[in-house]
Amino acid sequence: MIRGIDHVAIAVKNIEDGCKIWKDLGFEVEYEVIEEQGVKVGIIHIGDSRIEILEPLSEESPISKFLEKRGEGLHHLAVKVENIEATMKDLEEKGYRLIDKEPRIGAGGKKIAFVHPKSAKILLELVEG
Ligand code: CO
Repeated sequence: MIRGIDHVAIAVKNIEDGCKIWKDLGFEVEYEVIEEQGVKVGIIHIGDSRIEILEPLSEESPISKFLEKRGEGLHHLAVKVENIEATMKDLEEKGYRLIDKEPRIGAGGKKIAFVHPKSAKILLELVEG
């Protein structure tokens, strides 16, 4: 049911500072601004997975709130699942708390949903694909 790690997202105050180590390790960084989510993203491809470095676009961004509370570091882990509706239903039936009741559309038009950190110990993103 779980096909692998889709991405690992790291919250940072400054995207250049956050991407520096990956550039120094020889990776190329792609940049993207996602207005709806209030973030600037640095994407590093590593095999079939990627690392996303997230910098908030404004004080209102959920990433700003995260940085205030927790500081820089791991923001969420995303795993690839075959069938997102089936995975969500299964987790709900087992008593896990989902942030999304229905899948929403994420980057690349893929269906995504978040599992609450109270249930998964970290913020967990499910990505269909
Ligand atoms: Co994500």
